[in-house]
Amino acid sequence: MKNIVIASDHAGYEMKEHVISYLLQEGYEVKDLGPPNADRVDYPDYGISLAKSISEGTFKRGVVICGTGIGMSIVVNRFPGIRGTLCSDLYTAKLCREHNDSNILVMGGRVIGFGLAQEILKTWLTTPFEGGRHQHRLDKINVIDQTKPMAK
Ligand code: RB5
Repeated sequence: MKNIVIASDHAGYEMKEHVISYLLQEGYEVKDLGPPNADRVDYPDYGISLAKSISEGTFKRGVVICGTGIGMSIVVNRFPGIRGTLCSDLYTAKLCREHNDSNILVMGGRVIGFGLAQEILKTWLTTPFEGGRHQHRLDKINVIDQTKPMAK
């Protein structure tokens, strides 16, 4: 998995640029869905486009950043197949992969610094899903996608 999609709003723009530099340096191919600068935008516009790109199968994993990470979390988790996880520490970055098979890392650009964000990203990118009993639990979440009308 060396292909990552990324987006932010204005409050996450600076961190997005930092994350992109790190990913490129590590040999990832990065699709930047914007915004192209720190002018004020609405986070749902960017969260929706990133969540769709994963929900529809164009990308497997993505990173999305707003001021707190909360708005983006609310948006992305409305889409089928999305397991967006807001992380501000290394423990949740590791566990959201091992237990929840997180496919979108959400971070708050106004909550954590670039150094911690980079370590969280590194952990999230390299930690595998454990499967087993955790897959059984994800299967129960997947039933919701099949039975409840969701965003398209
Ligand atoms: C933008 O001011 C801010 O509301 C947004 O980045 C995000 O934190 C929303 O949840």
